[in-house]
Amino acid sequence: MTQQPQRYAKITGWGKYVPEKILTNADFEKMVDTTDEWITSRTGIKERHIRAEGENSSDMSVKSALPALEMAGITPKDLDLIIVACSSPDYLVPGVATIVQEKLGASCGAFQLTSGCSGWVYALVTASQFIQSGTMNNILVIGTEILSFGIDYTDRTTCVLFGDASASVVLQATNKPAGVLHYELGSDGSGAKSLYVPAAGTAMPLGKHAKEVIDNKLMYLKMDGPEVFKFATRVLSSSMKRTLDKAGMLPEQIDLFIPHQANLRIIETAARMMRQPLDKFFINLHKYGNTSAASVPLALVEAFEQGRIKAGDKVLMCAFGAGLTWASALVQLGEVEGAEAAAVEQGSIAENWLSIGKARYLAKKTVNAVQDTVQNLMMNWKMRQYDAARRKKQQRESAN
Ligand code: UT7
Repeated sequence: MTQQPQRYAKITGWGKYVPEKILTNADFEKMVDTTDEWITSRTGIKERHIRAEGENSSDMSVKSALPALEMAGITPKDLDLIIVACSSPDYLVPGVATIVQEKLGASCGAFQLTSGCSGWVYALVTASQFIQSGTMNNILVIGTEILSFGIDYTDRTTCVLFGDASASVVLQATNKPAGVLHYELGSDGSGAKSLYVPAAGTAMPLGKHAKEVIDNKLMYLKMDGPEVFKFATRVLSSSMKRTLDKAGMLPEQIDLFIPHQANLRIIETAARMMRQPLDKFFINLHKYGNTSAASVPLALVEAFEQGRIKAGDKVLMCAFGAGLTWASALVQLGEVEGAEAAAVEQGSIAENWLSIGKARYLAKKTVNAVQDTVQNLMMNWKMRQYDAARRKKQQRESAN
């Protein structure tokens, strides 16, 4: 039996859509008890885009998908599958993906993938599996959120953070190394209620609990910000490091890091933990806020548009959020050829030794491991201090 050539899922097209309407920090100063200074210093966010009246997630998905399909040089009819990562669908049932399929005029399977802010990276990895297994050739992977619909605009602890957006990529089959080369998907359901919408699911049906839901605003997103912050600061760098380890690569070999755009402080911590300059981390959260499943693809598209990345580059993406979930993917843009391609096929460690030399790689790994241990100890110590301060504050509040 002849061996089939290895298949990869290359990113061949991308597109984005953000609604025109903008809410600035100055707008929030008029809506809730907050200041531009607080929002900027605690999050880095300046503006977020908000959907037009009547605009739904399916509409926004189509608007980001069309330019991606055009760039890839295919039509909706060529698609084998559509995955829409989304936690804010048009309806609870059906998932938004079938509506997108109909609006695009595609005639393939379509499903929604709901995994909070990690959803699009989960979807990218999932789509890659269908192509790599040889069953599909062209897949559209969309990340869309209309978070403004599910936010309590009287709750200053959440309303300033989120925005609406959509971004898409097209994946196509190739035999040359490209696309997702290594990944990590993670989940810790013990933190499910750190970031969730209490009502409208089976746990609290609207029909039965309507008054309680409305009186207590349980249809809106609730978040234990500091708890999610702790989780995020740990997982962003640790997940990226584990994915790099799978690839046998060092952080300095990555051309651009594309982190979930939730909070500048979380990204700054990750850069410190990876001992990489902050300018190797793509940041656009000041313009859009946290757009959940749209955040990483929107950053990817803008990195392409701004010339920050090009064919041949390696990018490392990582998202985290509701679930709690996280997902990292090491993505090869364009295709690699020649000796590098052969090395990837043999195994990633071989590729790395080829590019930087075995002795240098092992020496750097050892130094990194020591530095990681020291940094992790310091982070654990800081987290304990942070927890103690929170506990004291809670005790003071309950005593008053
Ligand atoms: O994509 C999903 C993942 N989500 C995230 O990554 C979010 C992770 N969490 C965070 O980014 C941060 O926890 C927040 C930005 C949400 C909050 O920042 P923080 O530094 O953790 O603040 P905090 O929640 O500890 O609150 C500190 C103070 C509190 O006041 P008191 O009790 O100390 O008087 C809050 O009530 O800041 C207050 N506060 C605000 N003040 C002005 C909270 N929100 C605001 C606000 N404006 N918008």
